[in-house]
Amino acid sequence: MDKLVIEGGRPLHGTVPVSGAKNAALPILIATLLAPGEHVIDNVPELVDVSSTLSLLGRIGCPSLVGANPGEDGALAGHRLRLDTQRIAFSEAPYDIVRKMRASVLALGPLLARCGHARISLPGGCAIGVRPIDQHLKGLEALGCRFELVGGYVNGRVDRLVGAEIFLDMPTVTGTENILMAAVLAEGVSVIHNAAREPEIVDLAHFLRGMGARISGEGTSTLTVDGVPALRPSRRPHPILPDRIEAGTYMVAAAITGGDLFVAGARGEDMGAVVESLRKAGAEVTVQADGIRVRRTGPLHPVNIETRPHPGFPTDMQAQWMALMTRSTGRAEITETIFENRFMHAAELMRLGARIQIDGNKAVVEGSERLVGAAVMATDLRASASLVLCGLAAQGLTEVLRLYHLDRGYDRLVEKLRSVGALVGRFGDNAQVRPGMINQGRAQEAG
Ligand code: EPZ
Repeated sequence: MDKLVIEGGRPLHGTVPVSGAKNAALPILIATLLAPGEHVIDNVPELVDVSSTLSLLGRIGCPSLVGANPGEDGALAGHRLRLDTQRIAFSEAPYDIVRKMRASVLALGPLLARCGHARISLPGGCAIGVRPIDQHLKGLEALGCRFELVGGYVNGRVDRLVGAEIFLDMPTVTGTENILMAAVLAEGVSVIHNAAREPEIVDLAHFLRGMGARISGEGTSTLTVDGVPALRPSRRPHPILPDRIEAGTYMVAAAITGGDLFVAGARGEDMGAVVESLRKAGAEVTVQADGIRVRRTGPLHPVNIETRPHPGFPTDMQAQWMALMTRSTGRAEITETIFENRFMHAAELMRLGARIQIDGNKAVVEGSERLVGAAVMATDLRASASLVLCGLAAQGLTEVLRLYHLDRGYDRLVEKLRSVGALVGRFGDNAQVRPGMINQGRAQEAG
């Protein structure tokens, strides 16, 4: 396994391009199952979770072809993907794939809509919580699906999908997506109440509309779907929307290092809560048409946050915010309301000198100027991002172990950080890295 080694204490300056959103790419790739034929999708990020999704689709019988499409003036651009969903050999998402990527459960709705049956491994819990899928099943049952749980798998069948009125107990993101992807092929109208409002759902709705689906209300808590008998493959290359969580991570990187970054492609309309919190913390945030600039020269003020469904402060930015508050001039309170166990990064941040008290779903961070590099362990995707952020600000060397967590959700992280002045390199777990080694161009050595 690899590790990231960071020599911290350097303000970052320059432009960082944002890749396509992981949490839009995964449902959109799986949505191609709804219509036989060749689909074309643009700005697909280079992530382990995308590769896992493509191998799931391959196992189902749908091969993909990834081609690079150069971005304008050399900017890092995502890949153009061609997906052939003409035939479905197996309507199944096996445990060995689902256990690595729980978003595979998104195959349930499309496979039931396309084939009338599906066998999906239960995703099981993960580091941040139990993560049940009861709402997914509740909504799909309302559309006429029947399920039985056998040997860790959900076996689903449906003769006819019929539109229904569905009331979600909470605005679940993938639950909304799963139900939406079945409702588009149901007979009649479906209304999903208490639907999630995330920008990734809006992007999925746009993609489905490009396939001929009739959807309205995306981005609000009430989605209305007028089912159609069949959909057509998406031939117009649909560009995946920019990743607001990746963008937010680099915006925090500018603030925590006292630098000045232009995060190209970041969309202000998707990131209101993060922009507002950064401004309150003392960063200068300029939202432009083509990206967001974040600059911090003065002190970092403590700012309390509470994670909420979109458009509230995103839970996927909570760990990054905790990292930032470790360097504030006072005491900040962070409340996690979405997942039951999403503070595991706190113990690792404390190894870097952070002072954090956890009490249930509340964390109190006493900021300080001094963070000192150490070896730390990534536990989940966004927790690992918070370790990198503190490593960029800490004095000395920080080693972030278990990099596969980061590889799931951050596209070309080392390349992007080095392009704005970070001393960071990817090395084999056992490599002995001393100060000064990283800037000898040996950043990519993994051995
Ligand atoms: C999506 O997960 C994202 N993943 C997560 O991003 C993100 O943290 C989460 O939404 C919240 O924004 C993808 O989009 C692939 P939920 P999801 O269903 O859909 C409970 C990342 O780092 N719940 O909105 O699984 C659940 O336990 C990942 O990119 C039920 O009780 O999240 C949680 O407490 C991490 N029953 C809450 O709802 C259900 O049937 C919100 O979960 C479904 C969810």
